[in-house]
This record gives sequence, C-alpha cells and structure tokens, in this order.
Amino acid sequence: MLVAKNINEFRKGYETVRPGMKVGLVPTMGALHQGHISLVKKAVDKCDFVIVSVFVNPTQFNNPEDLRTYPRTLEADCELLGSAGADLVFAPQVEDIYPEKDERVFDFEGLDKYGEGPRRPGHFNGVAQVVTRLFDIAKPDYAFFGEKDFQQLAIIRNFTRKLGNKIEIVPCEICRGEDGLALSSRNMLLNAAQRAAAPHIFATLDSETKKLAEDNFNMSVDEFLKRITDGINSNPELECEYAEAVDSDDLHRIASWDESEHIRLWCAVYAGKVRLIDNIKVR
Ligand code: PAJ
Repeated sequence: MLVAKNINEFRKGYETVRPGMKVGLVPTMGALHQGHISLVKKAVDKCDFVIVSVFVNPTQFNNPEDLRTYPRTLEADCELLGSAGADLVFAPQVEDIYPEKDERVFDFEGLDKYGEGPRRPGHFNGVAQVVTRLFDIAKPDYAFFGEKDFQQLAIIRNFTRKLGNKIEIVPCEICRGEDGLALSSRNMLLNAAQRAAAPHIFATLDSETKKLAEDNFNMSVDEFLKRITDGINSNPELECEYAEAVDSDDLHRIASWDESEHIRLWCAVYAGKVRLIDNIKVR
C-alpha cells in the first residue's frame, strides 16, 4: 500500500492502475474506525484498485474549534488501511486540494433545507467542494459513503448525478458498537461519563421507533419527536439539538405519517461540546 502525501506522489501511485481496472474511492477525514473500514472492505470486494483519501477538509467546518480539535491519527489510519486491503492512501495538503480558493456554490435542490443544512451553514457546500475535487483527481468508477451521514449521502448522490460523469455512489450501512453507538471519529473526544451516556441516543431511537410501529403509527409526528427528544434528554450528559422525521428520498420534513412511504428519523445530540449525529429507518 502506498501513502501519497501530495498530489505528485498520488499521480505516481496511480500509475499502477491499468485500463479496465475498476477504481474505488473512499473519502474520509481520518481518525479511522471500523465504520470507515467497513466502507473500505466493501470497496475492496467491488473494485480492483482502492483509494482512501484522508483529508480534514477545512471548507466544511463551520466551527473553527471543531476543525482545530478534529482528531488526526494518520499513522494508525495507515495501519488499519493496510490490513483492510487498500491500495493507495491519499493524505494531501490543503494546497493540493485547493490550489486557489474554491468559490463554487452548489445547489442541492432543497436536500439541505432541514437536518444539518440550517444548523451548519456552508457545511454541505464544503463537502461538495472537496468531494468533486477528489473525484476529479481519483477518477473513480465507484465511491463509497456511509448512511451514518444520511443527508450527506443524498446530497452527494444528487450532485454526482448532475456532474454527468459515470461515478456510481455506493451506500454503506451504519456500523455500530456492541452498545449501539454509531461509530464516529468524534467518539474519541468524549470523556468517560459522556461515552457511557452516548449509547442512550441509539437506544432511544431504536425503542421509540419500534413502539411507533407496534402502535401502527397511531401517534402524531410531533408526539413521536417529543418522545425522542425527551428520551435522549433524560440522560443528564446529553442534549438533543434536533430530531426530525423526513422523507428518505427528497429529505423534506414531514408533519404527518401519510406524507411519505419511506421515512427516516435523524438527530443531532450534544454530549458536552461534542456533537454527535445518528439516524434510523422509521419505515
Ligand atoms: P468522515 O466523517 O471521516 O466519514 C467518512 C465516511 O465514512 C463517510 O461516508 C461516513 O458516512 C462514513 N462513516 C463514518 N462513520 C460511519 C459508521 N459508523 N458507519 C458507516 N459509515 C460511516 O464524512 C466525511 O468524513 C466527510 O464529510 C467527507 C465525505 C470525507 C468529505 O470531507
């Protein structure tokens, strides 16, 4: 496995790609865990040459403190990636990705109207900037993204379709710890009490979603969301920023169950200063 720390090294590493080989790309910001590795393994199964990018993209951070404290663990990342079967790690410098300031503004056709969109202004635009740059550089046939970031996945699908290239976006299921907590690089920023509390997020989403189905959707959306928020907040270490029920395809927030057949529940929760997101299929 080659580790390229700038674009020239990357181009050299890319020379081993032969015509006809299927190239897979797994974009990450590093501090890798088994959630990322599940994407890499899927890529290794499906592709002949797997590139994993490790780049903490400054343009998607709306909070400078979050950018500053984002964990960076490249050496350990490379060890995990070697065992998982990646062929090329691309850990570029900011100037490799942004030789000049990226001024592009994307239109996500309303997919960014709810959820993270209004709470992290500019975030998805930054994600689109870096992902389109990585697509240009790595020219993948397949790119792998996790449902952990459900809204990001939908937005990436949307702009990739509009780019008119042939990149296939492959969705990957959320990888959870045995306690149900969605794996996240941010989990390592939690103190012991917060880490002990964090599984309560998914436990609440899971149990309330099951109750709703057993009850044949006989409570209102508002009532359901209040049960989720109250449930999460019942743990003193946690504070729910939002919980929303949205249409799984166009991501509009629903006010009643008959508005949509496919529904996702998503939320953001603070544990101290650490912001965690999670989501679950409602039906
Ligand atoms: P990052 O948070 O490092 O995540 C990289 C990829 O791993 C994303 O597609 C994310 O959805 C997926 N992932 C993270 N945790 C996961 C889990 N527990 N189960 C399944 N998949 C998981 O998302 C980003 O980086 C950035 O926004 C990026 C797309 C790389 C652009 O900078």
